[in-house]
Amino acid sequence: MKDRFDYEISTQSQVARDHYVEAVDLVLAAQAGIVDTFEKVVEADPSFALGYVGLARGKQYGGSVADAKIAMEKARTLTKGLNAREQSHLNAFGLLIDGKGPEAYSAIRSHVDLYPRDALVAQTCSSVFGLIGFSGKPGREAEMLAYNAALLPHYGEEWWCLSQYAFSLCETGNVDKASTIIDKSLSLNPRNANGAHVLSHVYYEMGETQLGKDYLDSWLENYDRAASLYGHLSWHSALWSLERGEEKDMWHRIATDIHPSVSLSLPINTLTDMASILYRAELAGVSVPKQYWIDISAYAQRFFPKTSLGFIDIHAALAHAMCGEEEALRGIIESPNSLTGDLVTPIAEAYKYIVDQKWEEGVNLLSSAMSDHARLGGSRAQRDVLEFSLLGALLKLGKTDEARRILLLRRPVLFNTQSLFGMNVEQRSH
Ligand SMILES: [Fe+2]
Repeated sequence: MKDRFDYEISTQSQVARDHYVEAVDLVLAAQAGIVDTFEKVVEADPSFALGYVGLARGKQYGGSVADAKIAMEKARTLTKGLNAREQSHLNAFGLLIDGKGPEAYSAIRSHVDLYPRDALVAQTCSSVFGLIGFSGKPGREAEMLAYNAALLPHYGEEWWCLSQYAFSLCETGNVDKASTIIDKSLSLNPRNANGAHVLSHVYYEMGETQLGKDYLDSWLENYDRAASLYGHLSWHSALWSLERGEEKDMWHRIATDIHPSVSLSLPINTLTDMASILYRAELAGVSVPKQYWIDISAYAQRFFPKTSLGFIDIHAALAHAMCGEEEALRGIIESPNSLTGDLVTPIAEAYKYIVDQKWEEGVNLLSSAMSDHARLGGSRAQRDVLEFSLLGALLKLGKTDEARRILLLRRPVLFNTQSLFGMNVEQRSH
């Protein structure tokens, strides 16, 4: 038996093989039903190790680390007769699910060099929320582009690989090329949520607010709320509503799809999307109920009681600062993750100063993080919350010209959106 990428798999069951191909595609397309489908795989062939590895990955996606470990332990009992690629696949995911990040990364890169079409493994490094994206290293946007470009010749015209390549092009400023490639990818599989996500980023980077919102809102109508990108795509839609001055639509999206009480996303998305949209709203001059900040700060403390990835921690710090949770904020300032602590500490401190209306201190600290905040991970659109935080504080100091110049220099496409009260938003209707 072979998988969709022509690699041999150690099962004799056609049913198991077909479900396996389907389950891997659900992962690659960020669709719902991943765990259920991998369960069908191992039900059809209980001796198929890679079925259990996939199940472990699905459980990890669903946030059940303990269940992921159980599935991986089962896979490890089924290694007899595995071919070399399967053994290496199992080993790489085993390290990842055991939480051995650096060893997993090294095993995954070696595996992908040998077996570039093993998409389930390759996928762990291909996006802004992957192992390269969250590496904390300088130049990781370029590294992600190089990684995805190197995969491309092995896949050819294949929807998943094209979507990942397009995203890394978009994130390095190659927006026109990204647009062409993502159109091709979506023509091959219009229901790839990663593809819809990349196209949303392309529209965002082109400043095509209305086109993007129309496309995404209609695409979301047929997307399962339980799928991994539903909440984050809702954030994109809410952000466009804000940028167009359509506050009612934004609040509706927040209430139905983004707020922690309704979100079905992974905690990293729920926290970062909610904190981000609330602060972008504040900066645009929209009044935000304090209770929302309390809700998201409490959520951050519940799901991330210790400091974590820098990308998570800056959003948690923002939430804590906005509702006066000083102790939680101090924990992030004083003990950030060492990979990006040099960025997290000044950003978290800046938010404390900003809330205390000490704008000058806030500006100085945020400025220190501007040169390479890509190291924090996440997309450019997500890290715009930092760009706008700096601009918002400059406006408070009356430095409107400086804020305009910085925006035109760093994010010119956002200049005409209704993103900043006091600069391109003069009045709000409430
Ligand atoms: Fe996004």
